[in-house]
Amino acid sequence: MITHRSYTVEPWCVRETELHLDVLAQSESVFALSNGHVGWRGNLDEGEPHGLPGSYLNGVHELHPLPYAEAGYGYPESGQSVIDVTNGKILRLLVDDEPFDLRYGQVVAHERVLDLRRGVLERTCEWTSPAGSTVRVRSTRLVSLTQRAVAAVAYEVEAVGDRCRVVIQSELVANESLPEPDGDPRAARALTSPLEPEEHFASRNKLRLVHRTRRSGLRVAVAADHTVTGPPRTTISGESDADVARLTVTAVLEPGRRLRVEKLVAHGWSGVRSRPAMSGQVEAALAAAAHSGWDGLLAEQREYLDDFWSRADVEVDGDEEIQQAARFALFHVLQAGARAERRAIPAKGLTGSGYDGHAFWDTETFVLPLLTYTAPDAVAEALRWRHDTLDAARERAAQLGLDGAAFPWRTIEGSEGSAYWPAGTAAFHVNADIADAVVRYVTATGDTDFEREAGVELLVETARLWRSLGHHDAHGTFHIDGVTGPDEYSAVVDDNTYTNLMARANLLAAADAVERHPQQAARLGVDEEESAAWRDAAEAVHLPYNDDLGVHEQHAGFTRYQRWDFENTAPGQYPLMLHFPYFDLYRKQVVKQADLVLAMYLCGSHFDDEQVARNFAYYEPLTVRDSSLSACVQAVIAAQAGHLRLAYDYTVEAALMDLADLEHNTRDGLHIASLAGTWTALVAGFGGLRRDGDSLAFAPRLPERFSRLAFHVQFLGSRLRVEIGPDKAAYTLLSGPSVTIRHHGTPVRVNGDGPAVCPMPPTPVRPAPAQPPHRGPGGR
Ligand code: BGC
Repeated sequence: MITHRSYTVEPWCVRETELHLDVLAQSESVFALSNGHVGWRGNLDEGEPHGLPGSYLNGVHELHPLPYAEAGYGYPESGQSVIDVTNGKILRLLVDDEPFDLRYGQVVAHERVLDLRRGVLERTCEWTSPAGSTVRVRSTRLVSLTQRAVAAVAYEVEAVGDRCRVVIQSELVANESLPEPDGDPRAARALTSPLEPEEHFASRNKLRLVHRTRRSGLRVAVAADHTVTGPPRTTISGESDADVARLTVTAVLEPGRRLRVEKLVAHGWSGVRSRPAMSGQVEAALAAAAHSGWDGLLAEQREYLDDFWSRADVEVDGDEEIQQAARFALFHVLQAGARAERRAIPAKGLTGSGYDGHAFWDTETFVLPLLTYTAPDAVAEALRWRHDTLDAARERAAQLGLDGAAFPWRTIEGSEGSAYWPAGTAAFHVNADIADAVVRYVTATGDTDFEREAGVELLVETARLWRSLGHHDAHGTFHIDGVTGPDEYSAVVDDNTYTNLMARANLLAAADAVERHPQQAARLGVDEEESAAWRDAAEAVHLPYNDDLGVHEQHAGFTRYQRWDFENTAPGQYPLMLHFPYFDLYRKQVVKQADLVLAMYLCGSHFDDEQVARNFAYYEPLTVRDSSLSACVQAVIAAQAGHLRLAYDYTVEAALMDLADLEHNTRDGLHIASLAGTWTALVAGFGGLRRDGDSLAFAPRLPERFSRLAFHVQFLGSRLRVEIGPDKAAYTLLSGPSVTIRHHGTPVRVNGDGPAVCPMPPTPVRPAPAQPPHRGPGGR
């Protein structure tokens, strides 16, 4: 846990001014660099000390047996886990006779800065060896957003005070040793030294290693090229063996003189390409990087990010910490998705091995909304990945005796990776979440090519799933029984309101899409009868409601359950799933994470303002937020219900999840959904952004703490800037055609004639609901 203030508060960077070895693993996640294809944790250049070494390639995983005490039909047989691939970031240093290792000698100064505008991690360090030699080390590291295979490091060492002899060893290391993994020993075995060597090479400036995973059969190639600048008589040599390729650079430095190594690293992987083809591929990527050169890579990175920030920046006045956290969040979400290109966006991005590197509904429901309105191309790629995995989803549905496609609850390559049915495949809502992301993307971009090529099929196959999973009762009402909603403390329940409403939207969207695309409909074998059945089911979907309490039920019968004994639950007994049996959680009124409250956000037209307020007041005291996916959603609905202070507190919790390590697991990787949720809390919470048919609606309201909030959205080729003050909001068209939006329900035309300025209606005044004891919003 981070017990000291780790980072300074600055608007455009995250700066650590001292090295704290006790929280090294956390800072490695915070300082991770990625482009969605390659991910490098923020490990120290020298490789040691480390918390968790990590270099990841999106999609590179190993298979291992899944543990079952008792076998059952339809249980997935094989688990998938992300693996730590060949590490290209290592630059070891020897100063006179001693290794530069910050556990020894004296660290005079150590600073690391994640620069959110330049997209680099910079480090400066001054260190005195146990024998008294002092050196200054500077490094700059980037994972290129413009050349997706490429990462690079510039590493420089300077003699301070006395002359010294230094040796820099630039390495590629495969099968590096990792801390003991917890859990199933069979999985641990499969993941220890997962790479079998195929090729190694070293010359006087280049290194290359090619490996292959044992079971998943993926070939991984990593190569490096170097430019060395040093004093006369600097010597360079290369050597390699199966798992290590090393370039050794030796020089004697007079005081004030420097030795500099620029290292370009290229990565590639494939399940089909041959060894020579993979070697060639990484050499080609290196050649392209060398053509840009170090300065060129830096310039491209800056240009890419300038463009991103012009489309995506969120400005917060009045709270510097939230300002920083918002940009940190946007940066990491961009890193997770920018170049994922038809691969999943995992729950931890490529910042750590938590959740085995799996992707969940987190992607479609939390990450893609942000990207839809700021970097929509990444959304098309992420959804095309889902489309690419349709065959596996269709097979899974068939295995379960269902029609259409059943997408996995958690996965890397498309097949179900969850070994626990109640909080796994039973969470069928992931299918509607994918459909929702398709509709959101198509409405926001008008990308009809995508809709025709991938969108329609995704909608149709998920609609088929719902039609076969649910049934009409004797009165014609449509029920979906035996499913798990977002709240994992209720499982295998009937008529989860969130699932039913999302399935409803999915069924209607599929019926609309086949009308727009008759050719696609014919190709997929959809006839009028089928789409009419979807509409019938959608219109008849059951929404359980408790008339006595005047609230919607999270699922049928939920409000009849015994209330969890919150009063006698100690603070140390959270998260509950680690201290109580699921059986007890399942039969009590206790909510892990926003579920009905999420339904009110994503399917808002089904709830009027009074219902929102009543439902929120009912579910707040039951919601313990044992998932990081909850605070941002509660922020949105708190803001809508007029509880602006509470909404602010939840925003703080979502925003500081990783910067303050609130769940004590940032070491395993960042919570990408909660980071994206920071944007959600600000833009959908205080900005009140909602989809409104084919357009957008806003209902802005500022919490007391903010004096101004501004953000940008991209919609149907237009760029809008929304600027909110305490008593008015201004909508400005920055580029593209004019648009009509709603401001607190009133249509507003936003065109090139300057900002449309709208007054803020009064905020409804209601008593703020309480949270369970010890479970108030965290973060400050
Ligand atoms: C949450 C899920 C989420 C998963 C990955 C779980 O704790 O309950 O909703 O998808 O974490 O973030």
